[in-house]
Amino acid sequence: MFMRIFSDIYDLQEHLNKLRKNGKSIGFVPTMGALHNGHISLIKSSITENDITVCSIFVNPTQFNNSADLQNYPRTMNADIELLDSINCDLVFTPTVEAMYPKPETEILFNFGTIEQVMEGKDRPGHFQGVGTIVKKLFDIVEPNNAYFGKKDYQQLLIIKELTRQYNLSPNIIGCEIIRENDGLAMSSRNTRLTKHQRDEAPFIRKTMLWAKENIENYSPNNLTKEVENRINSNSEMRITYFEISEANTLIKCENWESNTDYIGFIVVEMGDVRLIDNIELF
Ligand code: PAF
Repeated sequence: MFMRIFSDIYDLQEHLNKLRKNGKSIGFVPTMGALHNGHISLIKSSITENDITVCSIFVNPTQFNNSADLQNYPRTMNADIELLDSINCDLVFTPTVEAMYPKPETEILFNFGTIEQVMEGKDRPGHFQGVGTIVKKLFDIVEPNNAYFGKKDYQQLLIIKELTRQYNLSPNIIGCEIIRENDGLAMSSRNTRLTKHQRDEAPFIRKTMLWAKENIENYSPNNLTKEVENRINSNSEMRITYFEISEANTLIKCENWESNTDYIGFIVVEMGDVRLIDNIELF
């Protein structure tokens, strides 16, 4: 079957309703485009686990708290569509901003509790309100059985699970492992904006995270955090935004190592004006 592209919401819904009536299960991968192997692995999981896979491409303005970041976000629609076709994705949804945000706007204010108040939520005010808004709209349109998100944006994954719980939305939320370049750099659409020298240095982020994991026994959480911050800042191409060690389900910051608790180290590093995010399971 050849891949179909929809930009109109109602055409897509009509098509999906027919498929659902014929008993087809629907997997969904929402993206902002500039697709890389991280997205491809989500789409391949969806293709394996569902009859039909829908990928949306929409650079969502409401989740950018910085207008330069929105403007500079890479947009590669033609290449994305070719790539999706080559891996046998079934449907692509490419709505306009006007269609997703009809005027006058009606804003939903979400209350995600403490998982929104730390790290990306604290550093990028309004970001998760924007993510919640667009993901809820997309889920309401596509009504998927399963939806796939990468663990690189781990806090986003928890927010979307909470959104789905609060609004009884249809899909199972499936978190997929981080896909990395051979040198360890987590794949991201933003990597394409690094200069050659920055790109050569960028794997130092992963190396520092692995060092932290190996040295848990030797440091308190606070001292390990300081050590990671110092190591990152010692690289002249990098500036640490935060390194935080938090409990995996609540994102409550770890003050003392407790046994039988899963901790994740979360990092954001700026290289020039490119903001890179990664995380590592510590225990
Ligand atoms: O992770 C992303 O690419 C975006 O935040 C998402 C989930 C597609 C919502 O715009």
